[in-house]
Amino acid sequence: MAAPAINPGVTSFLNGKPKRMLIGGEWVESVSGLTFATTNPATGEVLAQVAEGDAADIDRAVSAARKAFEDGPWGMMTAADRSSLIWKLADLIEEHTEVLATLETLDNGKPIVAARRDDVGGTVAYFRYYAGWPTKIQGDTVPVSVPDMFNYTLRQPVGVVGQIIPWNYPLMMSAWKLAPALAAGCTIVLKPAEQTPLSALLLGELIQMAGIPDGVVNIVPGYGETAGAALVSHPGVDKIAFTGSTEVGKLIMRSAAGNLKKVSLELGGKSPNIVFADADLDAAAEGAAFGIFYNMGQDCTAGSRVFVQESVYDRVASFIADFARKQKVGNGLDESTDIGPLVTQEQLDRVSNYLNIGRSEGARVLSGGERMTAGDLARGNYMSPTVFGQARNNMRISQEEIFGPVVSVIPFKDVEDVVGEANNIDYGLAAGIWTRDIGKAHRLAASIKAGTVWVNCYGPLDPGSPFGGFKQSGIGREMGFHGIELYTEVKSVWVSLA
Ligand code: NAI
Ligand code: MG
Repeated sequence: MAAPAINPGVTSFLNGKPKRMLIGGEWVESVSGLTFATTNPATGEVLAQVAEGDAADIDRAVSAARKAFEDGPWGMMTAADRSSLIWKLADLIEEHTEVLATLETLDNGKPIVAARRDDVGGTVAYFRYYAGWPTKIQGDTVPVSVPDMFNYTLRQPVGVVGQIIPWNYPLMMSAWKLAPALAAGCTIVLKPAEQTPLSALLLGELIQMAGIPDGVVNIVPGYGETAGAALVSHPGVDKIAFTGSTEVGKLIMRSAAGNLKKVSLELGGKSPNIVFADADLDAAAEGAAFGIFYNMGQDCTAGSRVFVQESVYDRVASFIADFARKQKVGNGLDESTDIGPLVTQEQLDRVSNYLNIGRSEGARVLSGGERMTAGDLARGNYMSPTVFGQARNNMRISQEEIFGPVVSVIPFKDVEDVVGEANNIDYGLAAGIWTRDIGKAHRLAASIKAGTVWVNCYGPLDPGSPFGGFKQSGIGREMGFHGIELYTEVKSVWVSLA
């Protein structure tokens, strides 16, 4: 198979020179001079060397962000001007769809069709949505009962914000973090994931092109234990926003305590997708398959526990297994690829280990179940989409976040049975319910402990609709006005009229 042609914009971006970090409007090397390699998970080839930030670089970036927050043009700008800059950025991202999507596929492995439509398209929509907010962030007048007093509230930016994001949707996670913070008037230090730093760096160039003032967005690539940890504990940072593992989320809460940073966390999940016998079974089975295999299962909302009512269990389980077998696994640059490689060898090993655990727990492999190594696939981190039948909710494969194309299909008896099981988990990010009984659907939507519930669908998101987790899936809600709340402080102002 001939290698697909690479977009010329990508070739000029990956010009063979180490990529630098963005601090105070300048593209600079790390203080240490160190770089790290980012690789293509489809081939194992090194794509670029990238400046490796650590505590010294974070310190410089936080100073730049502080200066831009306190003294720069950003704070003086009208809400309408801030709005136009964010809208301009969205236009530039849209114009660079092809190069951004290609970069995302090269660095992360995901299918280019999804990268274009969902990752870049979603990013554009997200910035456009938040571009509308600056002119709508308003306070209240409060009818206080203290005589001769006028009381009103101001909603003001929280200040300098540290944002740490994962590798599964590198560009879109940058957008989820940056857009509401910019709309609120904050300044930012963003640390992309060490596995996938490239699209955020290109976004940095577009941020400059859009005319967003120097120091408002600083981008420092580097490892979690060094750059990430330094950002979280930095006394000059007012808030930390994080998306990633629950384990690191807990570390972040602890080390953000030093100066009591505001913390918002979007963490892991092990979401139930529940299929009742009275559902449109073809739609449900397809929704269940899509809900786990999308983005190679590397998705915090992946429907990794599919509960199927006993009387239709065999039919639905075999549909999902057939769907898995029909997925075209290959290089994400190929337009016809459904499933690309996993992001890293480490992730491949982690998923492979869970396949062994599932087998030893007595679950039955209905399809997949192994690494794929035929031909060119041997060079990449390819895992066949895997369906475990006869799974139980208390198995480790059903309780722990695998973050790969692996699903537990679990039989259940009735509503009471499945509500108990669905909620019997440490996570609470999302859930799906498939039934034609509208009363049952609404009752269940209320009983399931999850931040998002999808009825007769799985996966749609919108910048206006709140997103976040119950239980150990996180703290706070992104999207909509909730996103603005995360990046603002409310001030109560008292004026004596006496
Ligand atoms: P991770 O939570 O370690 O990485 C996410 C981000 O946090 C990266 O930017 C990383 O550099 C940073 N980070 C890591 N340690 C840090 C620390 N001590 N202080 C500050 N920042 C730190 O996730 P990882 O190791 O890449 O993946 C492991 C597992 O985590 C996955 O298999 C999956 O189960 C889960 N995960 C969940 C995600 C989600 O969207 N909910 C996203 C990525 C991973
Ligand atoms: Mg990479």
